[in-house]
Amino acid sequence: MKILNKEILADSQGVRIVKLTIHLPDIAAKAKAGQFVVLMVKEEGERIPLTIVKADAGQGSIEIIAQEAGLTTKLLAELKAGDFLYSIVGPLGHPTEIKKYGKVILVGGGVGIAEILPVAKALKDAGNQVTAIIGSRNKELLILERDLKEASDECVVMTDDGSYGRKGFVTEALKELLEKSKYDLVYAVGPIPMMRAVCGVTKPLGVLTLVSLNAIMVDGTGMCGCCRVRVGGKVRFSCVDGPEFDAAQVDWDELSKRNSIYGEKEKHICRLHNEQVNK
Ligand code: FAD
Ligand code: FES
Ligand code: MG
Repeated sequence: MKILNKEILADSQGVRIVKLTIHLPDIAAKAKAGQFVVLMVKEEGERIPLTIVKADAGQGSIEIIAQEAGLTTKLLAELKAGDFLYSIVGPLGHPTEIKKYGKVILVGGGVGIAEILPVAKALKDAGNQVTAIIGSRNKELLILERDLKEASDECVVMTDDGSYGRKGFVTEALKELLEKSKYDLVYAVGPIPMMRAVCGVTKPLGVLTLVSLNAIMVDGTGMCGCCRVRVGGKVRFSCVDGPEFDAAQVDWDELSKRNSIYGEKEKHICRLHNEQVNK
């Protein structure tokens, strides 16, 4: 669980995104696109899920990319090459179903860009025509543009403020592409409002759309029930039944409510930590 390398991919407006390469031969040998790990930074900490962005079986390592959202991702981002993680479990979740769909669009928002990268590579290798739409708040927060361009036939870049690429949301580019041509699959990862908006575009057109849900997880193995989501009216556990689901079937209201359930406690823990550090 030794960290072999650390790279800061973005650092702007209080948002930091880091890439860590971790020595994990067993996970690297088995990981497939769409899977994730659950890790603990230190013994007294919590468990958090992060997508396996790259697995290198030869080197025996995996890459994870984390955006600082609260205390645990902040502590993770403070680690350096040579440090060790307390624990890590994986690969978890069903891999993405990789096959020849035909024409596919992958949509990544913010750190979701990292999560679509392995899927884009695998779908391209399977002979699909791949279009990537990647978006961020501004130019400084845009990550992995070169990798996504390499992994796709076409890559559209959007920024909310127009500081790079086209100005606007990823859904605007998606709508335009779907109006011009027929696509067989849309695959989207990003904040819940973004994935929900993607679904709002594709559902009326009847385009199959998969989303990787970021439900709150604890054990990641179907034991705790924390990551329950309602899909097609049925209760599913995101960690073992997902994390990918048909966007048109997801109960987005319930998912949004459940994901913000610990909001105040998370902020409180972060404040306590900062007070201790600044003592
Ligand atoms: P907190 O302040 O504790 O929480 C901030 C927000 O993060 C919460 O409101 C909640 O929405 C979410 N969150 C908090 N705890 C959890 C948890 N245990 N499980 C899931 N969400 C939580 N983020 C990345 O930056 N890169 C990734 O590749 C990535 N992959 C993910 C893959 C999966 C399958 C899932 C479910 C989530 C993924 N996330 C990813 C989200 C990441 O797990 C959260 O950002 C992280 O747990 C926040 O922890 P925190 O303590 O820093 O923030
Ligand atoms: Fe516990 Fe999914 S994280 S059941
Ligand atoms: Mg937390």
